[in-house]
Amino acid sequence: MKTVLITGCSSGFGLETARYFLDRDWQVIATMRTPREDLLPHSERLRVLALDITDPESIRQAVEAAGPLDVLVNNAGIGMLGALEGTSMETAREVFETNTLGTMAMIQAVLPQFRQRKTGVIVNVTSSVTLKSLPLLSVYTASKAAINAFTESLALELRQFNVRVNLVLPGRAPETRFGENAQPRMHNGIPEAYADLAQNVFPGWAQSTAVTRALDVAEAVWHAANDPACPLRLAAGADAVALAGSC
Ligand SMILES: NC(=O)c1ccc[n+]([C@@H]2O[C@H](COP(=O)([O-])OP(=O)(O)OC[C@H]3O[C@@H](n4cnc5c(N)ncnc54)[C@H](OP(=O)(O)O)[C@@H]3O)[C@@H](O)[C@H]2O)c1
Repeated sequence: MKTVLITGCSSGFGLETARYFLDRDWQVIATMRTPREDLLPHSERLRVLALDITDPESIRQAVEAAGPLDVLVNNAGIGMLGALEGTSMETAREVFETNTLGTMAMIQAVLPQFRQRKTGVIVNVTSSVTLKSLPLLSVYTASKAAINAFTESLALELRQFNVRVNLVLPGRAPETRFGENAQPRMHNGIPEAYADLAQNVFPGWAQSTAVTRALDVAEAVWHAANDPACPLRLAAGADAVALAGSC
């Protein structure tokens, strides 16, 4: 029986992905900053562990407690919307600390076991905003585009150890808590000089009917985890697939 460790399982894509793998008889290690046993169906194949990907000691403890893994899914991430001029460097660092450095730290923590056993798959969840740039998302986009480039280089480095690294690029998913969770970082994010731009672009986003469902992301992660022939980049969701096709 294979084992997957997924980061950020308290909601959204991570929670749905944990459910998806559980339904398909995998052992699932669902990690969350604040562990909750009531979010997923009870199963002997499920373990819920505490993990904050910005905390080295938390990472060490979670990876040690998890034991041997077959797949690591780096899903945990935070968002922010705002003009660069309205973004403090503290907020920019927070975004990179989680989305970029947290992902790298998780991979560093599992690589010794993958390399020694000459097997393993890493799936990094980034975003379709890296396929087509949108205004007022520069810092978030940069944090995810960095992981795209990092993944492509790392894949070449790890091929010799039979360790696969893949990207899943979801589109916009209004059903998750992503927007709500980003709110505290968006205070004063749109200075007056950018108000017109914001007024012009936000309604267009809200109107777009093609969106991504959490299930689309779970299916893409499943595909990446199980199919050695899977392309390195996998768009997830109708909007992301359309963007990927037009790039
Ligand atoms: N929703 C979208 O439109 C969208 C589109 C493209 C890509 N994405 C990406 O998809 C991933 C999942 O997003 P989502 O839509 O499912 O959002 P979500 O509902 O906000 O879920 C994000 C998860 O990440 C966790 N997290 C945040 N910081 C963490 C940290 N330091 N350590 C561990 N876990 C942490 C959150 O846990 P807490 O409950 O502890 O905060 C939560 O479980 C993110 O990487 C996001 O950037 C989202």
